[in-house]
Amino acid sequence: MKRKTSRSLTILSVIFLLQFTFALPSPAVAAAPACGELVKSKCTTCHYETRICQKVKKRKGKGSWKRTITSMIRHDAVIGKAEQKRLLTCLSKPDSEVLELCGMKK
Ligand code: HEC
Repeated sequence: MKRKTSRSLTILSVIFLLQFTFALPSPAVAAAPACGELVKSKCTTCHYETRICQKVKKRKGKGSWKRTITSMIRHDAVIGKAEQKRLLTCLSKPDSEVLELCGMKK
């Protein structure tokens, strides 16, 4: 009887530990989201990316993109504070993902 109890306790603690292993978000997810996905999910619901890419091609700086993002929010875009910050970087310093989205080469 006693033995059985300790075995089920072992099983229970394994389940308990496994839960943590899978419940914790992986560091890659917790870090900055990928620019390509972020731009697609936040910016292409109202217009095509071509609208954004026209501006990306002009290589505008942070100030200009900040005005655009603020203007999009005025048009009812739902973008969190952290996402706004990330988008500013994604758009003013387009990485390979954003360049690819816009059909541009580095
Ligand atoms: C809720 C709808 C909506 C969302 C979401 C949205 N936009 Fe727009 N966007 C508009 C509308 C409407 C216009 C045209 C009005 C204007 O020119 O200000 C526009 C125009 C633009 C323009 C051209 C005018 C300018 O300011 O340079 C750019 C660039 C742009 N959007 C970029 C973006 C980016 C980047 C995102 C994501 C951060 C985004 N949009 C998300 C509605 C939206």
